[in-house]
Amino acid sequence: MLKSQVIIFMLGGPGSGKGTQCERLAAKYQFQHLGMGNLLRAEASEPTRQGRQIKDIMLKGALVPSGFVLDLLNTNLLQREEAAKGFLVSGFPRELNQAKDFERVVGRPPNIVIILDCSTETMIQRLLLRGQTGHRADDHESCIRQRLETHYSLCEPVVSYYQEKNLLRNILGEEPEDAIFAKCCSVLDSLR
Ligand code: AP5
Repeated sequence: MLKSQVIIFMLGGPGSGKGTQCERLAAKYQFQHLGMGNLLRAEASEPTRQGRQIKDIMLKGALVPSGFVLDLLNTNLLQREEAAKGFLVSGFPRELNQAKDFERVVGRPPNIVIILDCSTETMIQRLLLRGQTGHRADDHESCIRQRLETHYSLCEPVVSYYQEKNLLRNILGEEPEDAIFAKCCSVLDSLR
């Protein structure tokens, strides 16, 4: 029941650098990175009714229903439990009920929650730049704005929730990748 593994949540708006930092941290600390968006994109690529529904939601910049998201996360945590020293989960939770339901299902909160603070302008610029490569179908202006709106309308209660539990660590996400990585490493090292 995932009692011993370190679980770290990485939060931040779209384009704040969650995925980038988690990939690097996972390599350094031999943790498993579970990117909620990546897991959902894999589900969305299935040629099923459910796959199409998830794809539609993601292309609107809205949230996939929380019950589905939590099941998917929990399944992946349990599947990789043996292999992992710990987990870095990016893009979860995105609303308060996800945070609370995680504790109910997994039996405890994460060990620490990192949030990358980034300005709206920086996030938009990064995503428009990535959008030029055509890598992600949701990296076009209207969807980026909707993703930001979804983020801003739901993130505050999540942030307050972890702040009250003294689990939140804020890191400025505007700096170069290496500087942010060094700060994230300090947070992880403090858990040892
Ligand atoms: P998800 O895939 O998580 O997308 P997102 O939150 O919009 O975030 P991104 O992946 O675009 O950005 P990121 O913060 O990871 O930054 P990245 O490192 O990639 O979610 C997609 C969708 O899935 C959601 O919209 C929703 O529909 C659904 N979903 C996901 N989680 C859900 C949940 N919990 N509940 C319900 N639905 C959910 O970097 C972005 C770009 O910036 C890259 O090009 C990168 O190279 C660059 N970059 C990164 N860091 C820096 C830096 N320091 N300086 C300069 N450039 C940088």
